[in-house]
Amino acid sequence: MRHVDSLLRLSAQEVEEIFRISADLKTKWNQGARPRLLDGRVMTLLFEKPSLRTRISFESAIAHLGGSSIFLTCAEAGLNGREALPDVARVLGGYSDWIVMRTFSHRLVADFVKHGQCPIINGLSDQGHPCQALADLFTIREVYGNLKGRTLTFVGDGNNVARSLAAGAALLGMPFIISSPLGYELSQEFMAQLRTRVPTADMTMTPDPQAAVARADIVYTDVWASMGQEAEQEKRKTVFAPYQVNARLMSAAPKSARFMHCLPARRGMEVTDEVLDGPNSIVFDQAENRMHVAKGILIWSLGSDPVHSTSE
Ligand code: CP
Ligand code: NVA
Repeated sequence: MRHVDSLLRLSAQEVEEIFRISADLKTKWNQGARPRLLDGRVMTLLFEKPSLRTRISFESAIAHLGGSSIFLTCAEAGLNGREALPDVARVLGGYSDWIVMRTFSHRLVADFVKHGQCPIINGLSDQGHPCQALADLFTIREVYGNLKGRTLTFVGDGNNVARSLAAGAALLGMPFIISSPLGYELSQEFMAQLRTRVPTADMTMTPDPQAAVARADIVYTDVWASMGQEAEQEKRKTVFAPYQVNARLMSAAPKSARFMHCLPARRGMEVTDEVLDGPNSIVFDQAENRMHVAKGILIWSLGSDPVHSTSE
């Protein structure tokens, strides 16, 4: 079963396969072609948190390819205690070709991987955001033509997005630098897991954002308080203030460095308008690529022959 619950589950070759399918379908899309590769397929989305990009990129992706989607909140699915979780997972898996999940706790995603009996796609949990990182790496490759050796610098919270970017960078041979305030770094447990999975990973952690961006090809940031951390908003505002990505910080990076953000952004907090709307920002390319890469993920996870499928 080809789950996309964590990037650490994938190999570099599998990521390349997803990219190849995504690029092929992006080209077709730009030519006005909408091959019905997923005719009759059903994707169920099971979300505990709000979403614009993840939900709509997957729903658009499957609609373009001829399939259907069903959106459910976790409460609607009966995960609020109405029914035992393994029962919900088995029943939904019986109706669905994929289940795309957005959850607070990654445990729920792991439980569905165990009981769901169809590919489970993590559309963001506290542990990671693999679909975002895949679209981001795909975008970086479009911009630079390659990934290996490109330095990805993340400035901010060692959160779900940072983890998946770190994992993706490690898999694809990209140096990854993360600059976080003390106490908000990537966890030691995650770092150990990453180093076990990819012993060659080139990872640097530093509390100094200026030093972190000095050799960046990409400067990436995300919100200081993720969904579910709203109560910490005020405290985090103070702690993270020196980590704002603004013109001053970007001037410490190479002139050619691109700016990335998974969005939604809190303008004026983790990033200023001048950077987000500036000439080096590629945030809306990232957002659009979520849809192209969603297609790659859906097709790849079915295990069908992508060359045959996408050339139909
Ligand atoms: N980047 C991202 O996942 O956005 P949404 O929260 O809107 O899905
Ligand atoms: N880290 C953010 C990402 C949103 C796409 C969150 O979890 O809220």
